[in-house]
Amino acid sequence: MELLLEDLSTQDRYKFLSAVVIPRPVALVTTKNRNGLCNAAPFSFFNVFSEDPAIAILGIGVKPNGKSKDTIQNIKDVKQFVINMVDASIIGAMHIASAEIPSDESEIDYAGVTLVDSKTVSVQRIAEAPASLECELFQIIELTERRALVLGKIKAIYIKDEIIDPATNRIIPEKYSPIARLFGDYYAWLGERYTKGIPSMDDIQRLGLKAGEIEKS
Ligand SMILES: Cc1cc2nc3c(=O)[nH]c(=O)nc-3n(C[C@H](O)[C@H](O)[C@H](O)COP(=O)(O)O)c2cc1C
Repeated sequence: MELLLEDLSTQDRYKFLSAVVIPRPVALVTTKNRNGLCNAAPFSFFNVFSEDPAIAILGIGVKPNGKSKDTIQNIKDVKQFVINMVDASIIGAMHIASAEIPSDESEIDYAGVTLVDSKTVSVQRIAEAPASLECELFQIIELTERRALVLGKIKAIYIKDEIIDPATNRIIPEKYSPIARLFGDYYAWLGERYTKGIPSMDDIQRLGLKAGEIEKS
């Protein structure tokens, strides 16, 4: 099958693109409105794209009624947000927070998670999350009236001590299991981890390393 984007409806574009580019991490984004009420919502059009400046990007659409989602409205108003990574400990909260909860109510009241103060932004993070990125608004790119890219400058990274190896100060891959969004209602967990270094030109040319000889693990 080969598809030309110009032949596809918006809905089909979404369906194919979000099903082809997988897995995607999920950001459970906390924001606060002008009255200080905390909002939480999951976003899987999300990743980090740069470390200096440290930039995370969210792709945010509109509500079914065409109005702004609370997350982007709050980011425009307060200019700060926190990306909480989602693992098994907050999976229920992620699903609850994706519901269309009225703007004057907090998803946190339904989600059964705890808010704690962040170090560098006034928006709180979710205490149970394995890792959180505290962000200041860097830029909003309005692609259309229905789609925006929100670029956040990461000011601090919180990581749970349990997943850090004290000897190396690095995350232990086997202990960190964020959920992966596939498409629609499909999700996946990380499976087996393995390591493989980047080959040098010397490996490829002089030693004649061939792609077919590189084992998966
Ligand atoms: C796993 C998951 C990922 C999602 N990813 C996105 C996304 O990338 N962009 C988006 O606009 N909505 C996404 N949604 C839908 C929003 O979470 C949903 O519209 C939410 O109600 C928005 O809340 P808010 O109005 O409080 O911001 C996703 C939902 C789920 C369950």
